[in-house]
Amino acid sequence: MVNLIIDGKKITANKDTMILEAARAAGIDIPTLCAHESVSRSGACRLCVVEVKKGNRTKIVTSCLYPVEEGIAVETKNERVLNVRRLVLELLLARNPKSEVIADLAKKLGVAPQPRFIPDTDKGKCILCRSCVRVCEEVVGVSAIGLSCRGSQKTVGPPYNEDSAVCIGCGACAFICPTGHIEMETTEDKRKIWGRTFKMKACDVCGRYFAPEDQLKYISKITGVPLKELAICMDCR
Ligand code: SF4
Ligand code: FES
Repeated sequence: MVNLIIDGKKITANKDTMILEAARAAGIDIPTLCAHESVSRSGACRLCVVEVKKGNRTKIVTSCLYPVEEGIAVETKNERVLNVRRLVLELLLARNPKSEVIADLAKKLGVAPQPRFIPDTDKGKCILCRSCVRVCEEVVGVSAIGLSCRGSQKTVGPPYNEDSAVCIGCGACAFICPTGHIEMETTEDKRKIWGRTFKMKACDVCGRYFAPEDQLKYISKITGVPLKELAICMDCR
């Protein structure tokens, strides 16, 4: 265990804990976009910046990737931190002017709705945080999507932007996306995502459509559970 101070509050935390989690456990809120408990961290959005004081030196770090240390003092809301966070939000706003999530965060921090930077018009709501790619790879185990191209052309999607042969339509990418960039439409017996249409399975008991057939086949394949046993929705189990 290590002892540290966050916003003047004495805290004891396990030595492997990141500052973000230690702060949250102590009831101190730090805004985030890309840190999700289900996937590994990317440190992409930079919104979670805090100031760390160690001896006489201070530095700005991303709290979702910086582990707690004995004796450090962390500031999550001082003027320096807020200024960095505002700049980060201005850049995010310029990159993703259509994102309501980013606009709301910017408003809360008093960032002007018209950023100083020239807005992009072709990035949609994607902040390139890779949470969708990571959940597909690390949790689902499918790796149907990835980042393609370089620099300002970088985008997320299936390889070559073609229909993915391995996507199972589970929608984990859309659920985890912090900005709502991934479009998924589920209507009764069909789900559309990444340009493909998946047939939904109706529950053998109540008849409600509850999961893409491809997803159930995939679960059956990797777990060995017979498909028939997976044909019942969670409510009817
Ligand atoms: S689509 Fe969403 S989850 Fe994926 S990289 Fe972009 S913002 Fe992150
Ligand atoms: S939440 Fe830490 S960098 Fe995005």
